[in-house]
Amino acid sequence: MSASVIVCDGCCCGRVEKGHNKVPINDIVQLWNESELGDNVKLTISGCLGPCSMHNVSLLKTEKEQIWLGKLSEKEHYEALVEWAIEVSQSSDEVELPEVLLPHRFVRNIV
Ligand code: FES
Repeated sequence: MSASVIVCDGCCCGRVEKGHNKVPINDIVQLWNESELGDNVKLTISGCLGPCSMHNVSLLKTEKEQIWLGKLSEKEHYEALVEWAIEVSQSSDEVELPEVLLPHRFVRNIV
């Protein structure tokens, strides 16, 4: 299954000067590369994804769904994104969201 993980590091997410938690981009990229995810799952570090009030935001996309995550603050949240990507790359079915990320899921209302 092809999928992608989009981690926002935009105008609000990761902006320590605005009182938000840093997004550990280098750690995420390093972990990603060590996991040898290949082409099955794509990692993108992006500019603003829209729902800034949910800083720090990430979006997980598969062929079947889009999972919005917000208020990510701990290293373990970002490690869980990579865990999810590894599972997706090894499975042809939908995979469960890691438990640590469940409370961070939100529905994005697009008007
Ligand atoms: S800066 Fe991340 S959603 Fe706007």
